[in-house]
Amino acid sequence: MSDTSPRVISISSGKGGVGKTFVSVHLAAQAARSGKKVLLIDADLGLANVDVMLGLHTGGSIRNLLADDAALEDLIIHCDRGFDVLPGGSGIYELTNLNVGEQQTILDSLREAGRDYDLILIDTAAGIGDNVLYFASAAETAVIVLTPDPTSLTDAYALIKVMSQQRDVHRFMVIINQTDEIDGQITFKRLLSVADRYLDVYLDYIGHIPQHPSVRQAIQQQRLITESDSAVGPHLNKLFETLLARPRDHSRAGGLQFFWEHSLASTLDASPDELAADAMQTQGVSS
Ligand SMILES: Nc1ncnc2c1ncn2[C@@H]1O[C@H](COP(=O)(O)OP(=O)(O)OP(=O)(O)O)[C@@H](O)[C@H]1O
Ligand SMILES: [Mg+2]
Repeated sequence: MSDTSPRVISISSGKGGVGKTFVSVHLAAQAARSGKKVLLIDADLGLANVDVMLGLHTGGSIRNLLADDAALEDLIIHCDRGFDVLPGGSGIYELTNLNVGEQQTILDSLREAGRDYDLILIDTAAGIGDNVLYFASAAETAVIVLTPDPTSLTDAYALIKVMSQQRDVHRFMVIINQTDEIDGQITFKRLLSVADRYLDVYLDYIGHIPQHPSVRQAIQQQRLITESDSAVGPHLNKLFETLLARPRDHSRAGGLQFFWEHSLASTLDASPDELAADAMQTQGVSS
């Protein structure tokens, strides 16, 4: 894999509502500002909301790719924040559980359209469903977002466990949202101590994002947080600079190469539900 191939980063979480889409759209905007050609894929299929956060009017979505044989290029929106968006489609139950053939159709389309980009960000659904595992493990780098909330911590651990044991993903970047520096570090150390003890994974703490009313306001107004927005704007800039400056992961056959060529037809040994139940016997993770 060369550094000139597009970099694929997934943004996932165990528990929902922790800030994945917020992180995804701002990371996309920042990378675009720094001159990168960015595609943001809304892979929270069936409950997609990147378009809502950005105030975009979508004509089609991944659904048209699967149901109508539409070309992926025709579904991509060139948004005025300087990056492209592939909408995920909302209220469409069939998208919430793609079968292997449908996953392959998306993969085939990305093989073509993805070449033009420097960075492809995938905002996934929460949890450990098949779609999440598919998208997150196809990326070169998996970012896990969580909050200090014990259930968020436990679910992040469950996701990391399932991805490492079922999908051979062993490196994760971690962002703790809605917290301060000290609680962010305490939360990360909790996650790390359990992961180190029970899993074969490497966790890279990128940092925390403060909780601030300006985030909710910006989302309600369908605008992005800017550099001048409270304490959060400059903080986000630094955080994403750190993230984007991390060296690419050559340790696995990652990136688009993997994303394009890896076959996901392999079947799971155990169902995600069984693994989740196992993981959530917490092993002390939430205390
Ligand atoms: N740093 C923050 N400060 C204050 N509020 C925040 C912050 N981050 C996120 N929020 C609030 O959390 C809500 C959920 O954020 P977001 O939609 O990004 O989460 P998500 O993980 O993508 O959710 P889902 O799992 O439903 O896709 C936002 O609408 C916002 O109100
Ligand atoms: Mg979301």
